[in-house]
Amino acid sequence: MRIFFLFSLLALGYASSPSPEFGSRCRCTADQACWPSASVFSDFEKSISQPLIYPLPPASACYPSSSPSGNCTEALENWDDGNWRANHSGASQSPNFETYTWRNGTISACYKETSLGVPCGQGSVPVVGIDAREPSDIQAAVNFAVKHNLRLTVKNTGHDYFGRSSGRGSFLVWTHNMKDISYNASFVPQGAPRHSGASTAITLGAGVQWHEAYDAANAQGQILVGGASAGGSVGAAGGWLLGGGHSALSPKYGLGVDNVLEMTIVTSTGEHLTVNDYQHADLFWALRGGGGGTYGIVTSVTYRTYPSFGLVAGYFVATANNTDVMRKVVTEYVRVHPSLSDAGWSGYSTLSNASLTFFYIMANGTEVAANSSMNPFFDFAKNLTSEGLTISTALTYAYPSWYAWYAGLFAHGDQNGANVQTGSRLLPRETFEYNYKELANALLELDGVAFNFVGGGQMAKINPDSVGVNPAWRRTLVHITFGTGWQDGSTVEEIQQNIGALKAKIKRIRDLTPFSGAYFNEASLYETNPQYTFFGFHYPILKVIKLKYDPHSLFVVQEGVGSEDWNSDLTCRRTLL
Ligand SMILES: Cc1cc2nc3c(=O)[nH]c(=O)nc-3n(C[C@H](O)[C@H](O)[C@H](O)COP(=O)(O)OP(=O)(O)OC[C@H]3O[C@@H](n4cnc5c(N)ncnc54)[C@H](O)[C@@H]3O)c2cc1C
Ligand SMILES: *[C@@H]1O[C@H](CO)[C@@H](O)[C@H](O)[C@H]1NC(C)=O
Ligand SMILES: *[C@@H]1O[C@H](CO)[C@@H](O)[C@H](O)[C@H]1NC(C)=O
Ligand SMILES: *[C@@H]1O[C@H](CO)[C@@H](O)[C@H](O)[C@H]1NC(C)=O
Ligand SMILES: *[C@@H]1O[C@H](CO)[C@@H](O)[C@H](O)[C@H]1NC(C)=O
Ligand SMILES: *[C@@H]1O[C@H](CO)[C@@H](O)[C@H](O)[C@H]1NC(C)=O
Ligand SMILES: *[C@@H]1O[C@H](CO)[C@@H](O)[C@H](O)[C@H]1NC(C)=O
Ligand SMILES: *[C@@H]1O[C@H](CO)[C@@H](O)[C@H](O)[C@H]1NC(C)=O
Ligand SMILES: *[C@@H]1O[C@H](CO)[C@@H](O)[C@H](O)[C@H]1NC(C)=O
Ligand SMILES: *[C@@H]1O[C@H](CO)[C@@H](O)[C@H](O)[C@H]1NC(C)=O
Repeated sequence: MRIFFLFSLLALGYASSPSPEFGSRCRCTADQACWPSASVFSDFEKSISQPLIYPLPPASACYPSSSPSGNCTEALENWDDGNWRANHSGASQSPNFETYTWRNGTISACYKETSLGVPCGQGSVPVVGIDAREPSDIQAAVNFAVKHNLRLTVKNTGHDYFGRSSGRGSFLVWTHNMKDISYNASFVPQGAPRHSGASTAITLGAGVQWHEAYDAANAQGQILVGGASAGGSVGAAGGWLLGGGHSALSPKYGLGVDNVLEMTIVTSTGEHLTVNDYQHADLFWALRGGGGGTYGIVTSVTYRTYPSFGLVAGYFVATANNTDVMRKVVTEYVRVHPSLSDAGWSGYSTLSNASLTFFYIMANGTEVAANSSMNPFFDFAKNLTSEGLTISTALTYAYPSWYAWYAGLFAHGDQNGANVQTGSRLLPRETFEYNYKELANALLELDGVAFNFVGGGQMAKINPDSVGVNPAWRRTLVHITFGTGWQDGSTVEEIQQNIGALKAKIKRIRDLTPFSGAYFNEASLYETNPQYTFFGFHYPILKVIKLKYDPHSLFVVQEGVGSEDWNSDLTCRRTLL
């Protein structure tokens, strides 16, 4: 029955997709004769509010090395700063997504080490684009891209882990400077029935970043469900939300997608739509987890906000001099997670075969409740000091507000600027309950895991079909990520070797949790069944909605809904439909 339902939806999707009106199966990129001339671009420029931008890789300031074209010192000093990178239209947060690897193995890149002797290449950095300020700028850019059949990319902060906000030879819509923020203590979605209840809400322009959103909400004595990164540089109204959006507050209030009241969006037909539960509800459903860069360009997002509250944090830092003691402490750590979740804990952790660190919160919790649920684990760990566990921190600490905790931990710091590819898995609660020993073994083998305790609680009680996001989230207690990195100048063979090890780790953890999935925003390009892994049984429905609202198939991103119809560069259709 279910299978039949899915196939009929798929058939509908294909039948309703338009035949391409473009002469070619392929999109136009800047190296081709079809690329619009300078005069065509300058005519277009008259229709937008800002001059065209010509993005460059951030290290381009250091080239040519004999007489640098820009302020190389500034680039090197700020290299790891997520907010500095977000300020540059040509920067990705991980520089490997600024590079492009030709089939012959040559990598086009602009390395910050000029001593490598590689000339600065444009790589996958888009060549020209708009610095969008108004929805009308985006409408003009979309119409222009459709008319000239351009390969289009949409970039907000460039944090993406798949390189979805870059594309070789592409035309860029850069949303970073759409910074409007407005708070409304009694927001009602457009088109809602009369006498609908009002909510406290904040409306964010597409370019607002988490540090700005948190500050604005805090000024009203409010909080909202959002991401955590050094400096709060991740976008609050772009890819984070469109892929799901996890938060330490998710176990209390749900994912980002569970907290949106309304969005505005420009579709490939050039329309600017207001979407919510009452208008274009199908598109609103798909935008809540069906992936960024796929249905259109979101211009604003309205989130529900909540009154600020205090919390108790739990901190733990330990290192081990042998793997046996690490296995004991990690096994217990894994085992207690269902009860920590039931007690109201959430937060972030990292673990390896030599160390375990976590910083958790009990939102709106009391110290008594925090201590009584956390102390048994602390006591267990303290018992292991005789076996080689060194505990430097094991305590709870009360904060007057969630914002005070956030500001203390995340307001500053650098965590970007390195070449990285990730793997990840959504770990279901039942694996913690029924297979915790094997899960602990797998985590130790993965050797270097970010353990995001952002599932469970209220998030798990929300109807999995109420929004488009991967239904696997609702059974998830912990979302883990792990990764691989390499030095600039590494050869394709060296990089592939690292990626081979990454693939083996992905397989290890997937085999342990075969019926779960992975989070579209923090994952790898090497899942064997990406559609099911990232979207579960929502995939065919998402595809129907994508084809309905993006009849030009203008919006295509790596592993995104509909991307299976395109080649790996996302420049040519695999088949004519
Ligand atoms: C340091 C770091 C910390 C992170 N922390 C968290 C976290 O706490 N929680 C979490 O859930 N995730 C987290 N992430 C993952 C994050 O959600 C993804 O990287 C996400 O893609 C970032 O979205 P962005 O808009 O900021 O970035 P971008 O790379 O600019 O965009 C990502 C994708 O969304 C598309 N997109 C962007 N804006 C729009 C728009 N207005 N309309 C349509 N499509 C758009 C882009 O085309 C691209 O496909 C983190 C990532 C990093 C690097
Ligand atoms: C270059 O950047 C550095 C560090 O940000 C700054 O101190 C310096 O004044 C800048 N130099 C120029 C010429 O702008
Ligand atoms: C990013 O740009 C904004 C606006 O110009 C500026 O205030 C901020 O200091 C910049 N951030 C960094 C880290 O360069
Ligand atoms: C590989 O191909 C690219 C693009 O055609 C070319 O620029 C580069 O010189 C080639 N590299 C080698 C080693 O042939
Ligand atoms: C808040 O929202 C309501 C209903 O959506 C609207 O009537 C009102 O004008 C808004 N207030 C502000 C300050 O934007
Ligand atoms: C622990 O991790 C290190 C790498 O960080 C690895 O070299 C080592 O083999 C691992 N040890 C065990 C026992 O798994
Ligand atoms: C916080 O806890 C208090 C006391 O238990 C409770 O009354 C209140 O509803 C809680 N608030 C939130 C936002 O959970
Ligand atoms: C700690 O070790 C003692 C002595 O072996 C034991 O009695 C106690 O139960 C242990 N405590 C925990 C929390 O494991
Ligand atoms: C680890 O530390 C414990 C306790 O200090 C000690 O007994 C043990 O020999 C150490 N093991 C290793 C492998 O160093
Ligand atoms: C909770 O534990 C902390 C140390 O982790 C301690 O400082 C505090 O007094 C305890 N609070 C209560 C209410 O027991």
